[in-house]
Amino acid sequence: MKNIVLIGFMGTGKTSVGRRLAQRLGRDFVDTDAEIEAVTGKTITQIFARDGVVRFRSEENLLVKKLAVRENLVISTGGGLVLNPNNVRLLKENGVLIALTASPEVLYARLANKKTRPLVLKGDLKQRIAQLLAEREGAYDVADFFVDTGVSSVDGVVEQILRYLS
Ligand code: S3P
Repeated sequence: MKNIVLIGFMGTGKTSVGRRLAQRLGRDFVDTDAEIEAVTGKTITQIFARDGVVRFRSEENLLVKKLAVRENLVISTGGGLVLNPNNVRLLKENGVLIALTASPEVLYARLANKKTRPLVLKGDLKQRIAQLLAEREGAYDVADFFVDTGVSSVDGVVEQILRYLS
């Protein structure tokens, strides 16, 4: 069975939804950020601070190559992973891509006071979200199916995905 790959901006709920979806389907769950932390022995914050964003992206690219040849996984991706078209191509070869979305207001509420996302730590959070959303315009349109997580509970989102897949 093809992998189910959750994509979307930071704070759209990919990890929570992915974990629950994997439970419901009895599949293994992989969160790319957690996997990169396990492989490198560093937190995402440390990787960004010590090695920089380019190094982080190359860890993502390496991981995608490994995951794309596996099957039956539910994979939650970091919000920037699909900015690389090659990652999209590899994940699509053996996977269904589901984009989780949320309004800027919902993203702001979810990301406020979180210290684990280096890309939105500096400056005004609202402006930073707006800037990144603009920079990434269309990046998540590569998905096969879209769910707005701002209007449903985690279980509600999982139900919509299950209905789509059935
Ligand atoms: C990033 C999103 C983060 C993490 C890193 C970069 C991004 O993952 O990979 O901080 O570029 O959007 P989440 O989307 O799980 O927060």
